[in-house]
Amino acid sequence: MGPFLALVALIVSVFCSSVNAIPTITAVGSKFFTSEGNQFFIKGVAYQLVEDDPLVNTTQCNLDAALMKQLGANSIRVYHVDPDADHSGCMNAFASNNIYIWVDMDSFKTYIQQAGIPSWTQNKSDSYRAVMDNFQQYDNTAGFFVGNEVLNSNADSGAAPYLLSAAVDLKNYREAKGYRKIPIGYSATDTAVLRPNLQDYVVCRPNVTERLEFYALNSYEWCGSSPNFNTSGYVGLQASAENYPVPIFFSEDGCNTVPPRTFNDQAAIFGPDMVDTWSGAIIYEWIQETNNYGLVTYGPPGGQDQGSVVVDGFTRQGTPTPVQPDFSNLASQWSTLNPTGIKSAAYTPSTTAPLCPSSTAGEWTIDPSSPLPTLGAVGVTPVYPSSTSGGHASETSGGAASATSSGAASRTASGPPLLDGGQFVSTVVALMAVCAGFVFWL
Ligand SMILES: *[C@@H]1O[C@H](CO)[C@@H](O)[C@H](O)[C@H]1NC(C)=O
Ligand SMILES: *[C@@H]1O[C@H](CO)[C@@H](O)[C@H](O)[C@H]1NC(C)=O
Ligand SMILES: *[C@@H]1O[C@H](CO)[C@@H](O)[C@H](O)[C@H]1NC(C)=O
Ligand SMILES: *[C@@H]1O[C@H](CO)[C@@H](O)[C@H](O)[C@H]1NC(C)=O
Repeated sequence: MGPFLALVALIVSVFCSSVNAIPTITAVGSKFFTSEGNQFFIKGVAYQLVEDDPLVNTTQCNLDAALMKQLGANSIRVYHVDPDADHSGCMNAFASNNIYIWVDMDSFKTYIQQAGIPSWTQNKSDSYRAVMDNFQQYDNTAGFFVGNEVLNSNADSGAAPYLLSAAVDLKNYREAKGYRKIPIGYSATDTAVLRPNLQDYVVCRPNVTERLEFYALNSYEWCGSSPNFNTSGYVGLQASAENYPVPIFFSEDGCNTVPPRTFNDQAAIFGPDMVDTWSGAIIYEWIQETNNYGLVTYGPPGGQDQGSVVVDGFTRQGTPTPVQPDFSNLASQWSTLNPTGIKSAAYTPSTTAPLCPSSTAGEWTIDPSSPLPTLGAVGVTPVYPSSTSGGHASETSGGAASATSSGAASRTASGPPLLDGGQFVSTVVALMAVCAGFVFWL
């Protein structure tokens, strides 16, 4: 090749490699499918090394993605991102290891319920839309959460319609912008008294636009290696999820109260008792922190001289080292669990929506026939006797949000991509044509 051809080759390869090609994920009926027509089961880890955005350091993402591939993971969940940052390096790092991203759209200032009062406002909408704008461009963005553990007890039930208002707003925005139909769902607290009503409510309304596109549960019910499907509580989770009309999965999983963690529950989730109903699990969490859920460390606790990358005594960047035997235990569970499910071509959704739970004073207080709150509507704080809270709440409420990464706040972010939906599509088509032509020409 002469210098001119080499230059052309270089330019084209730079463009071609910037298209992060991986099959995309959609929700159809109660299952996820890849654009190649295969059912998709999540084997994920929660990934939030630093509080504000763990997807901006490409070197770090490459280090972590490579080890996640060894673990057998195909997904990460990220709780907070900066919608103004450039995520292309990290998204490509994960895509090239066949890892998808499940993104929480809220920020610390835009939770649907704040100080006990739910609302869906223009301000919140703008902020969630910005996250969607940023992440929709990546083929390995698998799904968006409108909230994490917004409701934790029956006293919070008034917040449930706001989850749907948010979902309607963001679905409408997604359609209006011509974005790919990236599924929009919610990540729930595993609160025994609340779970069945909320789980049904978010998919029960007659107008399908007013339903979530997936539902997920943060559950820490299976601790140690002695429980089985029947004694762990999973038999109950399965009973209430059977025939659920949209995909359902564990958005946090991996009880640590009986060490070492053996992750035996994975065999139930991906086995005959549950695999026809559930779409997998995201293990909490990648980085070792005070809560002791980590699968890797970046150095011994209390690392002294690393400045802003040490938060709460834990180093938050560098080469990840597996926490053993937990890491290997999870890897060996996942390596033997490879359900294929059903092909999309052979699948016809057959489930119907559950009935909306009826309103009961002091418990589930939502009138199922009420219209959803409109943009800007604000709820009221209900008054309850204190005995109504209870049940098994997630031990990691707020999850990675507990990290206080002051150093990370000073990171500079570059601007968001300035293409709108239509331009983006035509640009991608043009680039793909260039790539295809170039390959053909070679
Ligand atoms: C939205 O609210 C947050 C938190 O109160 C605030 O920091 C931000 O400036 C607001 N944004 C707009 C566009 O009003
Ligand atoms: C369904 O719900 C959406 C969002 O609330 C609304 O815009 C639409 O008009 C509804 N469709 C019908 C047929 O009621
Ligand atoms: C759970 O209970 C059912 C019904 O009693 C039984 O058929 C099944 O074998 C049990 N499963 C396990 C893992 O013990
Ligand atoms: C990015 O991560 C690498 C690997 O941990 C680290 O060496 C580097 O300092 C980080 N860069 C920034 C800007 O934090």
